[in-house]
Amino acid sequence: MLPAVSAEASPVNRRDRMLRACLGAPLDRPPVWLMRQAGRYLPEYREIRERVPFLELCGDAQLAAEVSLQPYRRFGMDAVIVFSDILLPLCGLGLGVEFRPGPVVANPIERESDLPRLEGSVAEVIAPTCEAIRRLARALEGEVAVIGFAGAPWTLAAYALESQLSRDVAALRALSYRAPAFLDRLLDRMAEIAAEALVLQIEAGADVIQIFDTWAGALSRERFRCSAGRALRRLLDLLPRERPPVILFARDAPHLLEDLAGLGADVVSLDWRVDLEEAARRVGDRVSLQGNLDPAALAAPTEEIERRVAELIEQGRKARGHVLNLGHGVAPTTPVEGVAAFVRAAQGRRG
Ligand code: CP3
Repeated sequence: MLPAVSAEASPVNRRDRMLRACLGAPLDRPPVWLMRQAGRYLPEYREIRERVPFLELCGDAQLAAEVSLQPYRRFGMDAVIVFSDILLPLCGLGLGVEFRPGPVVANPIERESDLPRLEGSVAEVIAPTCEAIRRLARALEGEVAVIGFAGAPWTLAAYALESQLSRDVAALRALSYRAPAFLDRLLDRMAEIAAEALVLQIEAGADVIQIFDTWAGALSRERFRCSAGRALRRLLDLLPRERPPVILFARDAPHLLEDLAGLGADVVSLDWRVDLEEAARRVGDRVSLQGNLDPAALAAPTEEIERRVAELIEQGRKARGHVLNLGHGVAPTTPVEGVAAFVRAAQGRRG
């Protein structure tokens, strides 16, 4: 599965660099990309969004591929994530998902008898995402890694259950005590939905998969193991044995690090609150690590960003493999120059 090149012997292309880092093969420097690298901080994205509503953009393969490529053309990252949303697979399922611009669910799941509403065609709603992946793979000609993604069962369930999320997903946590059997069924269904979306993206040519568990950090270790963690394991079990590397992101979950590292994913993506070097010590060589510059640090002067990138690269050497990224998504107010400085510094180019 590993590209048969040694880091010293021949130049590694961006895609190989990404795959090698995920699997823990030696490299001279880590690959770099950014969560939410396509989005509102880019004027060319805002220009398209003035004409096209968000869901229409996700539903148009040609435009979605174009928007995915916008940050690559400007900054030349080592990986391109397909433009879509973790909630897109839920859009065909009778929940009434809308974006204003944050997600709002008109008909949330409230009781066990609502579960049949989670039937419907995932394949149909994410067909444009898969077609966008095919277009990206063609445009990037195997030189740059294409990333597909899905939401983790726990995080998808959080949105399906609450019309607008409460702090720390209180309703979902309450459900885990009040009606654990209902929660299990809900999580199992979400694992199937995410798996279906991922298998289709893998078949379309995704080189790497990322699973976003944005709300797992709200759980204690004990609760994580019996709910979100169990469902993540189920999701990973539903993927083909021969599959691309899987990156698992959980926000604000330093207490879950060892658990996340033991689920069978290849990479754990850290948010900015965790010390990268300490995380590397804790997970050992079970997984590679991704992260984890504070997205707010992209507002710093160029020299400060360069210093922090150098520091992260140094800390990342303690990990089995390291993919340089932010600790969460790029914010809409981020200066374009900050993103440019981050990628340049990561790739050893001067400003
Ligand atoms: O560039 C990329 O990273 C790929 C595209 C991508 C989007 N959402 C586009 C988007 C990805 C990977 C996501 C993941 C996602 N979506 C997550 C997990 C990551 C995280 O942020 O923790 C979650 C929780 C969602 C759900 C979601 N979608 C939220 C909370 C929002 C509103 C956030 C905001 O920034 O306003 C969205 C809308 C959304 N998804 C936007 C984008 C670019 C903004 C919509 C717009 O253009 O108006």
